[in-house]
Amino acid sequence: MTAPTQSPIVGILNRDVRRYHRWCTPSILAHQERVEDFYASDVSISAGFFGTLVDHTGVFDEAERFAAAAQGADRTMFSVHGSTGSNWIVLRMLALERQDALVLVARNIHHSIMNGLKALGIDFRFLPTPYEPRFEAPLPPSVDEVLDGLRRYPEALAVIFTSPTYEGLAAHTGAIADAVHAASEQALVIVDEAWGGHLRFHDALPASAMQSGADLCVQSTHKLAGGLQQTGLINWRSGRVDGELMEEAYREYLTTSPSYHLLASADAAVRTLAAEGQRALGTAIDRTRELQQRLRERLPDVELLGDARWLAPLAEHVSGIDLTKTTLGLERYEPSGYEVARRLVERGIVVEKAGLNTITLITTFQIAPEAVEETAAALVEILAPQVRVGGERRELPHNPFGTIDDRPVMHPYAARRYAKAIGREVPLAEAVGAVAAEAVEVYPPGVPLILEGFRVSVDAVAYLLAARAEGGSIVARDTSLATLRVL
Ligand SMILES: Cc1ncc(COP(=O)(O)O)c(C=O)c1O
Repeated sequence: MTAPTQSPIVGILNRDVRRYHRWCTPSILAHQERVEDFYASDVSISAGFFGTLVDHTGVFDEAERFAAAAQGADRTMFSVHGSTGSNWIVLRMLALERQDALVLVARNIHHSIMNGLKALGIDFRFLPTPYEPRFEAPLPPSVDEVLDGLRRYPEALAVIFTSPTYEGLAAHTGAIADAVHAASEQALVIVDEAWGGHLRFHDALPASAMQSGADLCVQSTHKLAGGLQQTGLINWRSGRVDGELMEEAYREYLTTSPSYHLLASADAAVRTLAAEGQRALGTAIDRTRELQQRLRERLPDVELLGDARWLAPLAEHVSGIDLTKTTLGLERYEPSGYEVARRLVERGIVVEKAGLNTITLITTFQIAPEAVEETAAALVEILAPQVRVGGERRELPHNPFGTIDDRPVMHPYAARRYAKAIGREVPLAEAVGAVAAEAVEVYPPGVPLILEGFRVSVDAVAYLLAARAEGGSIVARDTSLATLRVL
């Protein structure tokens, strides 16, 4: 008998992961109540004495009730497929409610929402989504922009936006919810709160979607709320949301083999945050402030998104910022964000996200106290000798998310269907102005820059080519970006 070959995945998890300071998801509450032996206790739905997740019975009912109360929701469902799966469920619920549903969506919605709209054939219009180029940050829509959208499309069944954004910018969700509820008898305010599962549990953080009166939100528990990868919650208030359709959508989507270990972690993480969130998040916030202070003192040319001088002008769109995130603008330095991130990895430090001009760090629950000084020192080592001469600044990208119109030339569902039959591949530069038959994005953040059914913008192409040249990860059929399929 030969010994099994070694799994590289097992190897990397056992050997390598813990060597890095990880300023990136998942943010794990390491001391949450834990399952003792993962392998001995893996169990399936056949062990019916637990109750079942899909029917919300037994221990799952208990866990959902606790999470709903902790998050301030009337109902909560668990996800073992992240916010990606939750977004699909929510969109399916809307499609079940009205096959001809029209929804208003922010341009920076995650690709899971875009893909759901595409697959389900739901009609949509974009809300204006301005962009802060210094920090490569799309902004949430303002109250007036949402109301204007509703005036133009009073039949809208929902308004969907991301809050907080990837960079931690929170929308005026309370004011948006009030305005939408006053202006429409039916429209739901749906918040992609993938980045906000922790907000409810610390006073200094922006208010959560449920606290702000949104009708429904999805959260990734694994991102900032302490759970293992893939865990998430869907929270809603029963007033406008049709619970029966939510159940139907959930039943359609849910795997028949949900991991009880992941569910246990989501449950334990919520319970830990409910009991100790103020303290655990307080430590993360303090560490974030410490890191930012060191950077201000030692790298005066770095720009920090959280600083009042940058946040104040965004007030129409932004109600506050997640104090566990740090986004650095690197305009005054030679290396791109991608290059800085690479050099940090060489020093044993991983950041959440890099861009042409930025890096974003998340102060996770598990980040070690010494990581603050070691990371500040590494950034000084990388950046201090690389200040641009004569006060020069990098040319900032134009808004790569800008679209020519708020609606597609052809619904992405149709564009996708015709893509193979009548689409043609052209050199990317020649695709500008043509209707795209495929989507292209940089990951992270996972927001498509080129969208099926929309005309290709010159700014999206410029951003993609620059990101690729700097080592950004392109998600596309042709990751070399040589060609694009257009109609
Ligand atoms: C705004 C937003 N929504 C949804 C998702 C998907 O979340 P998950 O990774 O939990 O599937 C992400 C992932 O980055 C995201 O940024």
